[in-house]
Amino acid sequence: MTTQVGELLTTDSVLRIRGGVLLRGEVGVNGAKNSALAIMAGALLCSQECRIRNVPNLVDVHRMGQVLTALGVKVRYDRGALELDVTHLHRSLAPYEIVSQLRASFFVIGPLLARLGVARVPMPGGCAIGARPVELHVRGLQALGAVVQIEHGMVHAYARKLKGANIYLDYPSVGATETLMMAATLAEGETVIENAAQEPEVVDLANFCRSMGAKIRGAGTKTITVVGVPRLHTTEYSIIPDRIEAGTFMVAAAITRSDVLITPVIPEHLTPVIAKLNEIGFQATVEAPNGVRVQPGAGVYQGTDIETLPFPGFPTDMQAQFMALLTLSEGSSVVTETVFENRLRHVAELQRLGANIRVKGNHAVIQGVPFLSGAPVTATDLRASAALVLAGLAAQGETVISGLHHLDRGYERLEEKLRSLGADLVRVAA
Ligand code: EPU
Repeated sequence: MTTQVGELLTTDSVLRIRGGVLLRGEVGVNGAKNSALAIMAGALLCSQECRIRNVPNLVDVHRMGQVLTALGVKVRYDRGALELDVTHLHRSLAPYEIVSQLRASFFVIGPLLARLGVARVPMPGGCAIGARPVELHVRGLQALGAVVQIEHGMVHAYARKLKGANIYLDYPSVGATETLMMAATLAEGETVIENAAQEPEVVDLANFCRSMGAKIRGAGTKTITVVGVPRLHTTEYSIIPDRIEAGTFMVAAAITRSDVLITPVIPEHLTPVIAKLNEIGFQATVEAPNGVRVQPGAGVYQGTDIETLPFPGFPTDMQAQFMALLTLSEGSSVVTETVFENRLRHVAELQRLGANIRVKGNHAVIQGVPFLSGAPVTATDLRASAALVLAGLAAQGETVISGLHHLDRGYERLEEKLRSLGADLVRVAA
């Protein structure tokens, strides 16, 4: 890859934000991180070259590039375009050092098995937001005829030829749906995945696979049908805009009571985010053809309850950012996290800024306060780091955020984009 991961790693720097500044203008959204990661794994299904456009320049994308390189793929990244030459895919072992840092790299197991008949991928392990097991991926691959053994922390999967099957997922896991959909594209016969995840990134991956000749129907609904084909061909594909990056800028506008236009977006991907902002009292409107605008409302900003759910429910990846916003909304709000079991760690950091939040189990009860006051805080995971940036933009005085390596996993040039809207923030050595 032409940009080195080292350039992006920023463990020693901190973000200094002077809060209380109004934002104004238009901000651009990059390609979706979670589409890019799945599609990079999906490219292994192709036995030629693929060109993927609108790929965000993120640490996680570069880590996935390193996994592909280790498998024998030639990877070139240049200003948002990723060229993957998969002609010489020959290694079936994904390196532990990378898989342990990037859970999404586990998704290579499906394509590797489909292409090479063997895959050896380390168990990804838990992370800052939960234990994140992979049994749904494993059971689904077994249903497709693979022999799967887990030994010494490594998942070994073999199959001379995968065979289509009916698979019911106990939970609509995004990753398991993606793994099984990819594996089924080259299987013999028809696979039906019931209770599939309906996230836009699943649809994007399906569209990418279809552009290579895969036969997939129903992506975006609860039932996905895949009819296996012998091989997939070269393609050029462009990734959808990142709905979570867009949502984060929408909350940036709201929390600073500003007027900001965010483009490009696919408005239907943002329905719950738009609805909740309007419910709180902001004006969030779709601006045709591909923008969304957030403006201050006329009255008070009222707290609301939020429960995270699989798509089309409210996204867990926007929960922390909305919690930051609710700390400054009137009255009480209850935020319930149902997708991940440990995704409320930002509460303690928001409390350092003066937020009034109590946690009970997977619920956070927020009592709105009139203002937040800047303080040193530490990011605990990707979306938590975004929530702290948002809180810092609204807080009185200076907020200093450390733990920025989390932020750089999922947001490309976040501070540059916010500065272009007028925000006062700078990244400096710690
Ligand atoms: N789960 C299981 N068993 C499995 C698979 C999942 O119990 O075999 C559980 C997980 O532990 C979790 C829940 O199911 O509690 C949902 O997990 P899912 O598999 O849907 O999530 P994922 O594929 O691991 C992707 C995104 C996440 C996003 C979730 C939910 C990627 C690379 N990651 O994760 O993104 O939160 O879907 O929408 O696509 C982020 O971008 O900040 C992020 C964490």
